[in-house]
Amino acid sequence: MPIANGFLTPEQFKMEQFSELAVGYCPSCHMVQLTELIEPSTLFNESYPYFSSTSRRMVEHFKGFAQEVSQRFGADPFVLEVGSNDGILLQNFARPGCRHLGVEPSRSVAEAAIQRGLNTTVDFFNEETARRLRAQHGPADAVVGANVICHIPAIRSLLAGVEIMLKPHGLFVFEEPYLGDIIRLTAYDQIYDEHIFYFSAVALRHVFDEFGLEIVDASPQHVHGGSMRWTIGRKEQHQPTPAAERLIEREIDGGLTEAGTYQAFAQRVASSRTALVQLLEGLKQDGKRITGYGATSKSTTTLNYCGIGPDIIDFISDTTPAKQGRFSPGRHIPIKPYEAFKNHYPDYALLLAWNHGEEIIANEGSFLASGGRFISYVPTARVLEPSEHAVGPR
Ligand code: SAH
Ligand code: TMP
Repeated sequence: MPIANGFLTPEQFKMEQFSELAVGYCPSCHMVQLTELIEPSTLFNESYPYFSSTSRRMVEHFKGFAQEVSQRFGADPFVLEVGSNDGILLQNFARPGCRHLGVEPSRSVAEAAIQRGLNTTVDFFNEETARRLRAQHGPADAVVGANVICHIPAIRSLLAGVEIMLKPHGLFVFEEPYLGDIIRLTAYDQIYDEHIFYFSAVALRHVFDEFGLEIVDASPQHVHGGSMRWTIGRKEQHQPTPAAERLIEREIDGGLTEAGTYQAFAQRVASSRTALVQLLEGLKQDGKRITGYGATSKSTTTLNYCGIGPDIIDFISDTTPAKQGRFSPGRHIPIKPYEAFKNHYPDYALLLAWNHGEEIIANEGSFLASGGRFISYVPTARVLEPSEHAVGPR
């Protein structure tokens, strides 16, 4: 696989870096994770092209996240966010009576937050960074993060850092794609170089235990194709809700602690590829024009795994200026601005950003009215009915 977010120029085609993408399941601690890792500084740097605020729904979602965390604060709270990107979540804590700080290593996106007046340090969060920040700013009431904790390979350094930053009664609240949803939906495109871990409650309980931390709450989120918001605290400082215990029971009943579940998943993934390729090739043979919708990092896995290139997909439209004019990693499909889609609707749009499907389909009434149709591949490859608004879990 190429680098998932490595959108490139034609001059860079020859230098493109590829690596093995494989996932392992540990039967003793139950963690599911990548088996080969790429150096974080290769992925997260001044060229990182993923700007969180491109989705309006996610902007709203993070407002709710901040409100939920804020309810638990005492006086003069201090919130530290790991992976604050362009400030999509952090902006909600930047208000009178609340101190905030974002820790974000990718300068491209960190600058966007800084320009919005958000306190941001351009750094990787780890144990060492935490020691420095604790000395400079004091302890935090909450350490928060979204779609970042599963990106950090040195999970023990990360947790040591959280431990250093938190007040005795402080909370660590983060949300990430949930393993149970990935398996249930055969959402294999959640597997890419940035997503090192695919978290479950059983695996998290195990690793938190080492740091004297426990799961205080686990709450499912209907974003990014199914996420879980984890609330973590020091042991014996909080009254855990029954949610985590119930989730663990469901995970065990659902087979997340059995290797056979992952073998069956691998078979469904292979079938999903065959079905998608057959569907697209059939449409192409009928002379249909197909474009991609959303140059997601996930789509790098789908397009490369399925061998879908510019012979099938004319281009991928995306609203992110940093991706436009570039080419998709590995398959080198051109990335064009949204207007390229809007000004000349294709017959079919492959919904590569299926995790934002509801928002996108709600916005694309005129594409559907023109006779255009979306194609999804989660949970199965199909042309979506015009009435089918929901993609992914409900
Ligand atoms: N929180 C945002 C961004 C998610 S993308 C959202 O949910 O939309 C992941 C972000 O984590 C990127 O901006 C990346 O630069 C950042 N990141 C990766 N490793 C990190 C680390 N060790 N510490 C802090 N941020 C990190
Ligand atoms: P994500 O799935 O990692 O959040 O990436 C979503 C990508 O899709 C990002 O590059 C922005 C793009 N996008 C659009 O082009 N149009 C849209 O309406 C939405 C929601 C996202």
